[in-house]
Amino acid sequence: MTDLSVANTVARQMFDVESVRKDFPILSQTVHGKPLVYLDNGASSQKPTAVLDAMDRYYREMHSNVHRGAHTLGDRATAAFEGARETVREFLNARSTREIIWTRGTTEAINLIANGLAGKLKAGDEILVSFMEHHANIVPWQMLAERTGAKVIPVQVTPQGELDMDSFDSLLGENTRILALTHVSNVLGTVNPVQQLVAKARKFDVITVIDGAQAVPHYQPDMQALDCDFYMFSAHKLFGPTGIGALYGRESMLEAMPPYQGGGEMIERVSFERTTWNTLPYKFEAGTPAIAEAVGLGAAIDYLNRFDRAAMERAEQELLARSNALVETVPGMELIGTAANKVPVISFKIAGLHPSDIGTLLDQQGIAIRTGHHCAMPLMDFYGVPGTARASFAFYNTLDEVEQLFTALRKIQRLFA
Ligand SMILES: Cc1ncc(COP(=O)(O)O)c(C=O)c1O
Repeated sequence: MTDLSVANTVARQMFDVESVRKDFPILSQTVHGKPLVYLDNGASSQKPTAVLDAMDRYYREMHSNVHRGAHTLGDRATAAFEGARETVREFLNARSTREIIWTRGTTEAINLIANGLAGKLKAGDEILVSFMEHHANIVPWQMLAERTGAKVIPVQVTPQGELDMDSFDSLLGENTRILALTHVSNVLGTVNPVQQLVAKARKFDVITVIDGAQAVPHYQPDMQALDCDFYMFSAHKLFGPTGIGALYGRESMLEAMPPYQGGGEMIERVSFERTTWNTLPYKFEAGTPAIAEAVGLGAAIDYLNRFDRAAMERAEQELLARSNALVETVPGMELIGTAANKVPVISFKIAGLHPSDIGTLLDQQGIAIRTGHHCAMPLMDFYGVPGTARASFAFYNTLDEVEQLFTALRKIQRLFA
């Protein structure tokens, strides 16, 4: 635990959204002459000054390459970089920093694993995913299946947008080798009962991979309690920088896996006769890493640690409840995804309006949402829609912004539907 996080644990701030917003400079601007209402956090969230300052300070005061050990700046950079790894370890409650691998993000982490597990699969083996996966948790498995003769099998989703447990139970079996499941759906907001599903999968000796990209901005997952083999997330959705993410891997699994890429850092010794691999976690980190970005991610987690996470979650759930209550005030509006356990994300359609037109018309009023297939085409097919409009909230959004969204939607519906 860093000094800063010790201090923060001692004095957790209660959650006050108006003072929190002051920490995010980008939020206090106008777009098309209207105050920005940023509701595209599922795609990427905004960065507090603490993150911007930490990255700026890193470049101004300590930048050098890491792990070279020849001079003071190198030592400072290495301490900051490895300190950030420890912050991620603590955030995930992993047993060791050997289990925390830096990647470019969730997508690269899943590709790393899919590549590393090739030797474990044979023709006829099954990789269980679900209809609510992001393409990042489908396509790497399809590529692996192509290489090995394995099959990718999707678990059904209910009309409400929950994982269909009967489908899950009937598909999980002796042939299942890998379960790759999202913790939280980026389209539906559904929180899957991953701990329960991992426990079921482990009874069949299945390798479990949980995509945490949409979960970590709302929850702090505990790797030891969850007991999955792999878990990954992207910093840019967790109020940190782009270009970096973290992969948690159970140490024994990572030890058994071959490296992903070859190059500097990931080797112990290179010769033309025989090259040997570095120890964990460096075995999976070829080349100069994203050092400033790692520092930024550490700062984002330290920033979150200042707050009472339960109070933040309650505030987010109020945003969701208010949004749900306002749906009926917009004629023809229909939610896609009404699971009992959701993060504050609403996907919707409005009769007579194309989702992309809703997005454009909202933007003219300063409101940023996302429209389209959300990199989840199989789910769009399941619901028989080409795309949806999606408002995704973060802890810095306010109830007032929810009202502004729905006032704008009513206006759009009245004028254009
Ligand atoms: C559930 C989920 N998985 C994976 C990803 C891919 O994340 P990245 O593009 O940061 O690698 C996303 C991004 O939206 C996502 O929502």
